[in-house]
Amino acid sequence: MAHTKTSQRWLLLGATLSVVSALATSEPTPIPANLDAWPSVITRAATPFDSRHGYLLKKNIMDDIKSRIHGAVHSLDKDITGWFDKIPLGTGVLSKLGIGDELAAKPIEVLNIPPYANWTDRGWNVRFRGNVHKFPDISQEKIDDLANDFLIGTEVSKLDAEGQAQARNLTRSIYVVGQPRQNVSMTLEPVSMQGDNTNTASGGSQSVKLLGQTTFLGDYEEFVTISQNGLLPGNETHGVQRLNVYANGTLSGNATAFLVPTEGITFISDIDDILRVTKIYIPKEGLLNSFARPFRQWENMPEIYANWSRTLPNNTHFHYLTTTIEQATRNYMDFIYKTYPGGSFDTRPLDFSDLSNTLHIRKHLLTRVFQTFPRRKFVLVGDTSNSDVMKAYPQLAHDYPDQVQCIFLRNTSATDSQMWFPYDTKHFKGLDSKRYMFFREPNDLAGLDIVNGQCLNETIPQNVTFNMQHDSAGGKR
Ligand SMILES: *[C@@H]1O[C@H](CO)[C@@H](O)[C@H](O)[C@H]1NC(C)=O
Ligand SMILES: *[C@@H]1O[C@H](CO)[C@@H](O)[C@H](O)[C@H]1NC(C)=O
Ligand SMILES: *[C@@H]1O[C@H](CO)[C@@H](O)[C@H](O)[C@H]1NC(C)=O
Ligand SMILES: *[C@@H]1O[C@H](CO)[C@@H](O)[C@H](O)[C@H]1NC(C)=O
Ligand SMILES: *[C@@H]1O[C@H](CO)[C@@H](O)[C@H](O)[C@H]1NC(C)=O
Ligand SMILES: *[C@@H]1O[C@H](CO)[C@@H](O)[C@H](O)[C@H]1NC(C)=O
Ligand SMILES: *[C@@H]1O[C@H](CO)[C@@H](O)[C@H](O)[C@H]1NC(C)=O
Ligand SMILES: *[C@@H]1O[C@H](CO)[C@@H](O)[C@H](O)[C@H]1NC(C)=O
Ligand SMILES: *[C@@H]1O[C@H](CO)[C@@H](O)[C@H](O)[C@H]1NC(C)=O
Ligand SMILES: *[C@@H]1O[C@H](CO)[C@@H](O)[C@H](O)[C@H]1NC(C)=O
Ligand SMILES: *[C@@H]1O[C@H](CO)[C@@H](O)[C@H](O)[C@H]1NC(C)=O
Repeated sequence: MAHTKTSQRWLLLGATLSVVSALATSEPTPIPANLDAWPSVITRAATPFDSRHGYLLKKNIMDDIKSRIHGAVHSLDKDITGWFDKIPLGTGVLSKLGIGDELAAKPIEVLNIPPYANWTDRGWNVRFRGNVHKFPDISQEKIDDLANDFLIGTEVSKLDAEGQAQARNLTRSIYVVGQPRQNVSMTLEPVSMQGDNTNTASGGSQSVKLLGQTTFLGDYEEFVTISQNGLLPGNETHGVQRLNVYANGTLSGNATAFLVPTEGITFISDIDDILRVTKIYIPKEGLLNSFARPFRQWENMPEIYANWSRTLPNNTHFHYLTTTIEQATRNYMDFIYKTYPGGSFDTRPLDFSDLSNTLHIRKHLLTRVFQTFPRRKFVLVGDTSNSDVMKAYPQLAHDYPDQVQCIFLRNTSATDSQMWFPYDTKHFKGLDSKRYMFFREPNDLAGLDIVNGQCLNETIPQNVTFNMQHDSAGGKR
């Protein structure tokens, strides 16, 4: 019973984090005029947002929560509705924080999410994506108050120094104010130090202006064809070329762009409970592991990735795709780049005006990568506690049978009896059972010949019922 209650709070929290940030902004963004004036390829312009649609947003989030836990918890609606009613709407957030005109004088900051690029007839096509925002002045005392809302059974003052720093950092990252209708431009430069499996990009210097302006929430997302300026064509190199990307007007928007050759293998990896220990299925732990402790790798998973990065062909690309809130992106990137091979990133955009974003965000982001690299093969990595993954990964294998090389799912209950979420394996029905594996520990992945399609370690027993599976040993609910 206790589980049920706290998990509601955890799920609410996930939803709440998005809502809070969604509210901390001002007015709608008009769709930019004369789209044709700019020589770039645009896939999604700044979208208008109408705050009268707030009710839709709540409904979507509730649907999202409900689908995530597969109805394992009943009578959610009443509690959720009550909870949402307590969240201040619109400018209420700013006034709650006592923020006024002084925000105008604050510098612009940019979260520039490390992009990938594909090779097209017109050259390299880079998917720029990120958020323009400002940090309001909030006293440490107030930050601690706000951070306490995110903790269960403890408070900031009771954490050790590292924990306090983490809680304050993440809370400050959440209470940012998105800047709508901003122009975004980037400077690109070769990376001087290259990683082990990349070719040196000796060219590419240029400045790039995005066509659209930021959305109501400060987000931007746009594919832009850049000038070649000495870069190697994607169909004539076997290396992933990297470029430094600097957002104009701030020192906070530095990122690396990954120019990915037309062919090769891309690893698309979720992060929580597969690359790091989160324990989302134990709500209190999930919160502490996100807000009150430094991020921690899951067992020896970094070794496995390092080995893939070292031994697979140079055209191998790593893409980290998590639906964690955009505001936590820096923390995730910081952890990944210290621990795992370099790669491009995707996190949950703030933009709720597009239904498909809210309801099927993972599928949406995954499909975009697949469509951007139609000749590449994908290795999809995730875990059974994530129902989005359990649905989207096998669905992609049905929809793009030639593009999914392997699906690796950590069977989380195999090593953690506290993983009580039921998981549904029905979407795997009809797939070649040698193309996916439910594994227990990182070492189960060692030595597989992925390039030649070996995805299954025959020594690991598989128990796929193509139905709802519920492994909870300790009668946790
Ligand atoms: C690579 O792509 C460019 C642009 O589409 C094309 O002009 C060129 O012929 C291609 N090279 C090879 C080796 O296919
Ligand atoms: C953004 O760019 C447009 C077109 O170049 C320009 O008219 C507008 O003034 C710019 N806005 C800001 C805030 O710089
Ligand atoms: C991969 O790239 C490195 C560094 O550029 C190079 O030394 C190595 O020979 C390449 N490996 C393959 C298999 O092409
Ligand atoms: C870069 O930003 C500065 C101010 O932040 C602005 O004056 C300048 O015009 C911008 N450059 C480009 C290429 O947009
Ligand atoms: C971003 O890059 C610029 C130019 O190299 C550098 O001066 C700045 O310190 C970097 N910012 C961060 C946050 O690392
Ligand atoms: C939080 O920590 C990350 C990772 O170390 C860092 O990049 C970011 O700038 C910090 N954010 C704040 C608001 O201090
Ligand atoms: C490159 O990516 C864009 C955006 O996803 C896609 O529309 C286009 O078809 C891709 N081009 C190639 C040659 O794969
Ligand atoms: C399979 O899993 C076992 C147990 O984790 C591991 O020792 C072995 O290296 C893995 N790989 C292969 C190809 O058997
Ligand atoms: C590393 O890769 C090599 C070559 O594929 C393989 O023989 C070895 O077992 C791998 N080790 C680990 C820890 O994955
Ligand atoms: C996952 O592990 C649990 C515990 O060992 C087992 O009961 C379950 O059948 C496994 N699931 C799959 C899909 O293999
Ligand atoms: C296989 O999965 C079913 C359903 O989840 C479970 O009842 C059974 O105990 C599992 N068998 C093994 C050997 O783990």
